[in-house]
Amino acid sequence: MTAENYVFPRGFVWGAATAAYQIEGAWNLDGKGPSIWDTFSHTPGKITNDDTGDIACDHYHRFSEDFSLLKQIGIKAYRFSLSWPRIFPDGKGTVNWLGLDYYDRMVDSLLALNIEPFVTLYHWDLPQALQDKGGWGNRDLLGYFSDYAAVAVKRLGDRVKFWTTFNEPWVVAVLGNLTGEMAPGFKDRKLTAQVAHNLLVAHGMATQAIRSIEPDVQVGIVLNLSPVEAYTDDKYQKMAADRAWNATSAWFLDPLFKGCYPPGALKDLAADAPVVQPNDFALISQKLDYLGVNYYTRTVIGPQGEMKKVPGSEYTEMGWEVAPEALGRMLVKMNSDYRLPPIYITENGCALDDQVVGEHVHDTRRIKYVHDHLAELRKTMRLGVNIRGYFVWSLLDNFEWAHGYSKRFGMIYVDYPTQKRILKDSAYWYSKVITHNEVHR
Ligand code: FCB
Repeated sequence: MTAENYVFPRGFVWGAATAAYQIEGAWNLDGKGPSIWDTFSHTPGKITNDDTGDIACDHYHRFSEDFSLLKQIGIKAYRFSLSWPRIFPDGKGTVNWLGLDYYDRMVDSLLALNIEPFVTLYHWDLPQALQDKGGWGNRDLLGYFSDYAAVAVKRLGDRVKFWTTFNEPWVVAVLGNLTGEMAPGFKDRKLTAQVAHNLLVAHGMATQAIRSIEPDVQVGIVLNLSPVEAYTDDKYQKMAADRAWNATSAWFLDPLFKGCYPPGALKDLAADAPVVQPNDFALISQKLDYLGVNYYTRTVIGPQGEMKKVPGSEYTEMGWEVAPEALGRMLVKMNSDYRLPPIYITENGCALDDQVVGEHVHDTRRIKYVHDHLAELRKTMRLGVNIRGYFVWSLLDNFEWAHGYSKRFGMIYVDYPTQKRILKDSAYWYSKVITHNEVHR
């Protein structure tokens, strides 16, 4: 590629992302109710080292300091999530105004620094009170979620222009209800399919609720998408890869952008197929203003239909293959399979074994990771895919769900005992990328 190929269009959104439970702490302060992640992390044996998000990065008290760091790096947009039980301690009914005031102050602080807020309504921390009513398997939650969305948009929608209903519904459904590695920690195939469906309908209902209050804001959903590729050209490996893509990514993309499930998908689920109500697909497939794509790695299917480690490939601390070109291939395929709205890459990054040396963290591999994904994105944009922005995961090291604090994804290092922040080399590098609107190493 020539040097010019690394220059991004003017107005490209350079961002960083976090999520409430992973950074806020203050799990029971100022009227917040418990979430399923409080319950899950307080259950011994669920999280590496039995870590919890009780304190996390203490962002609840330190957001001003963290926003100064955003500004110092030059980040233009900040993607964060609201904690539903901070706003509705019981999930519905009485609003906790202190919780809403907190997000109000955050939004004002961001805007004062000229940083665009991108707000996610649901990044996994369901109010425990609603889990006690059956969680996402219970259709009543769809209405409660819309009510919560409406309250948040009434308060913040005059200033927040970008709203996301759900972060990664696949993870919520499958890792929460099938493998059980995430909250609420069930292993139930039928429930999983119903939860996945209900989340999509909830997305549609909330989209309507948001637009009825603030018709001009941008509404989208964020999906975790991972291309499934065959290790060789073998026909059966390719078929297995296609089936796996249909069962994961297309399971969400098809309803959203085609108004139905992938062909054969419901039949494959047989008795576990979800109950679908007549108007559901119309709700799910409403026009979206943008699609958020979280991309970390690809899945490779080997000769026995197994997930294969690729010899010679680099893997991160999560055991995920570094595969920037697969991101481009996936986006090009999606662009031909669907009529897509503009895309934001809402998460991309890597966990590394970062070490502090003096006052520095030399995370050269993270710089290369982000560089290579950005270069691939720039190339993909030239192929006609409409990508508007990029959010690095993550601004700060944080509570990485079932892995607790053992995985560090941040461009800013957090020393948890002292809560001291150290900008890693990647943060200084990203700052230059943003200033020049150009990716170079
Ligand atoms: C995504 C989540 C995010 C973070 C990264 C590593 O699945 O959305 O919260 O944990 O993975």
